[in-house]
Amino acid sequence: MTFLTLDAISKSYGPTVALDAIDMSIEAGGRTAIVGPSGSGKTTLLRIIAGFETPDSGSLVLDGKTLAGDDLVVPAHRRGIGIVSQDGALFPHLTVADNIGFGLAKHAADRDQRIAALMEMVELDGFMATRRPHQLSGGQQQRVALARALALKPRLMLLDEPFSALDTGLRDTLRRSVARVLRASGTTAILVTHDQAEALSFADQVAVLRQGRLVQFGPRALYGKPRDRETATFLGEAILLDADIASGRAQCALGSLVVEAGLKTGQATVMLRPEQIRLTTAAAGTQPEGPFGRVDDVEFGGGNCMVLVRIDRSDRAMPDFLSIKCVGADIPEPGDLVGISVHGMAHVLSD
Ligand SMILES: Nc1ncnc2c1ncn2[C@@H]1O[C@H](COP(=O)(O)OP(=O)(O)O)[C@@H](O)[C@H]1O
Ligand SMILES: [Mg+2]
Repeated sequence: MTFLTLDAISKSYGPTVALDAIDMSIEAGGRTAIVGPSGSGKTTLLRIIAGFETPDSGSLVLDGKTLAGDDLVVPAHRRGIGIVSQDGALFPHLTVADNIGFGLAKHAADRDQRIAALMEMVELDGFMATRRPHQLSGGQQQRVALARALALKPRLMLLDEPFSALDTGLRDTLRRSVARVLRASGTTAILVTHDQAEALSFADQVAVLRQGRLVQFGPRALYGKPRDRETATFLGEAILLDADIASGRAQCALGSLVVEAGLKTGQATVMLRPEQIRLTTAAAGTQPEGPFGRVDDVEFGGGNCMVLVRIDRSDRAMPDFLSIKCVGADIPEPGDLVGISVHGMAHVLSD
C-alpha cells in the first residue's frame, strides 16, 4: 500500500530551482534512500516532507491525509514524522535521558521505563542516562537523537545524512543498527545521503536526485540498471563501452555481450559493473581465448586494485582502455596479457 505520495513537488529559492516537479511514492514499512550530489535538493525535499518548508506547488499525502497542497499545510508537529539531522541537534543542557524523553509526558508513570527501553533499542548503555551531550562521542550522540525521534513513535522517520560526520567503521556499525531498529519497529524511513554505498546497503528503494530533478527511482537493483552515464558512475564504479546493439547482443571492445532484449538497437553505451569482470593472466607465450588485453598499469589499493587494460582492436585506430577493479591477491602485472571474461548481462544505457 502506498504510504507517502509526492506529486509534482516544486520549490525555488529566488532563481535557484531546488526541486523541480518531484513525483515519488513510498510503501509502508519500506526504507528509501535519496541520493545525489551536494546541492541536488535532498535536504529541501526532506524538510518539505517534515513540514519545515512549504512547497511552491505540488502535493504531499501521508497515509491518505494531505499534508501539503491545495493551499493547505499541516504544521510539522502535527505530522507524526521524526527527523534526525546530520549533527543530531541535541539539547546541550539536558541529560541523555531528558533529551530522549523530551517529547514524552513529564509525569507519565512509565516515563523512565520508556527511556530505558529506547536506550536499549539504540544500544546505549544505561549508565549514560545522566550524561550530557558533550560527554558523548559522535556516534553516541546520533543514537540519542534517534532514540529521541523514536520516542514519539513516528509514522515516518527522516534521516538527513545522520552518519556523515562519523568515522567509516563507526558509521557502518551505526547504519546497520539503525536499519535494524527501524525494521524491528516497522517504521517507514527515508535516508538522505551523498554516499551511494550507504544508500544501497540501507535501503530497498533508491531515488537519485540531480539538480532538483528525480532522475531515477526504483528498487536498489537500479544499481545494475542506471538510466544514464552520470547515474551509472554516481552509483558506483562503472565500465562504459561504446557498442552496437542488435538482436539481444552488444558488439563492443569485449566482444559480443548479452543485453536485455528489445530495448534499443544500433549505437549505444553499455555498462558493466567491475564485479562482472574477471581477468585471467595468460601463460607465457600464449594468447587467451576470447577477449583479451594487455595490462597497462596497476594502481595498488590494498584489498582492491585498479587494473588499466589496453585492448587493441583491428577495426579501430585507437585502443580502448578499461579500468577494472580487481579484488584479492591475484593481481596481474603491467605488461601481462590477460583474458577478460564477463559474467551476466551488460546493461544498455537509455541516454
Ligand atoms: N533556505 C535557502 N535559501 C536559499 N537557497 C537555498 C535554501 N535552501 C537550499 N537552497 C539551495 O537549494 C539547492 C538545494 O539545496 P539542498 O536541498 O540543501 O541540497 P542537498 O541537501 O542535496 O545538498 C542548493 O542550490 C541550495 O543552495
Ligand atoms: Mg543536504
